[in-house]
Amino acid sequence: NWKLTNYIEKTVAEIKEKVGTSKVILGLSGGVDSSVAAVLIHKAIGDQLQCIFVDTGLLRLDEGAKVMENYGDFFNLKIDKVEAGERFLKKLEGISDPEEKRKIIGGEFVAVFDEESKKFKDAKFLAQGTIYPDVIESQSVKGPSAVIKSHHNVGGLPEEMNLDLLEPLRELFKDEVRKVGEELGIPHHLVHRHPFPGPGLGIRILGAVDAEKVEILQKADDIFIEELYAHDLYEKVSQAFVVLLPVKSVGVMGDERTYEYTAVVRSANTIDFMTATWSRLPYEFLDLISSRIINEVRGINRVCYDISSKPPATIEWE
Ligand code: XMP
Repeated sequence: NWKLTNYIEKTVAEIKEKVGTSKVILGLSGGVDSSVAAVLIHKAIGDQLQCIFVDTGLLRLDEGAKVMENYGDFFNLKIDKVEAGERFLKKLEGISDPEEKRKIIGGEFVAVFDEESKKFKDAKFLAQGTIYPDVIESQSVKGPSAVIKSHHNVGGLPEEMNLDLLEPLRELFKDEVRKVGEELGIPHHLVHRHPFPGPGLGIRILGAVDAEKVEILQKADDIFIEELYAHDLYEKVSQAFVVLLPVKSVGVMGDERTYEYTAVVRSANTIDFMTATWSRLPYEFLDLISSRIINEVRGINRVCYDISSKPPATIEWE
């Protein structure tokens, strides 16, 4: 039996000891790992922790505001929110190759984060929500998906800052991280969020990304996620999202002909994200998602459900 309270007490003491009166910066993404790391470190050293949250503009609907509410207002974390949406969109303009988009987004993220970190000159530590599987993954020979897709979770540090790493979750598995999070008072739904890729909606809008497409996708995706929660299905699937295809097809709305984009609803069940099956969501549920998206989201007139397993398909479309 894993002793949760002991773990928290022990880790808080270790962080205090290690950090002393120094300042710590942490890249907060709103995901489970960085959020739990942030709240845990905050418990140990309070306002000596400075979080940096980069809003890439490629996040889910209202994600930026929610992160500020959940962690800034509720937990009182010091968060420096960087509105970088326009910067990312500009860099992505006209770029449709998936790997190129990933590199641009990853590179821009590191650039923004580095620039921002320099504002906190007196920082001595960089905290990260690295968990045990991340440690293993970076030690082992990279798997096919690491070769196919260049992940950008582990960014470069501004070298002149000479920061030491602080990784309080390094020994924990995901389910343990969630337990620690809940014990720290983070609401259940937040510690049970699905993973979200670093490049965000940038790789869920197939082909070139622009502001209009981001807005369309955010709305469609929000409907899907909202209904998964409402039907108690969210935690029964491992990852769920909508993909926007740059393909237009003909439809009819009232007595008007429409010619709009196609949305693909994707939901996968998996243990390790290396292999996955498509979620057997009820037909009635899929029907509801389809009607709501088509009726409520201007710009989409057709919804498909992805019934591909991994392999040979991947979970993401790019
Ligand atoms: P695939 O699409 O390879 O995805 O089956 C497996 C898992 O990895 C996530 N993923 C990423 N995460 N940066 C990330 O941080 C990325 O570039 C990236 N690409 C895929 C994906 O969401 C799924 O959970």
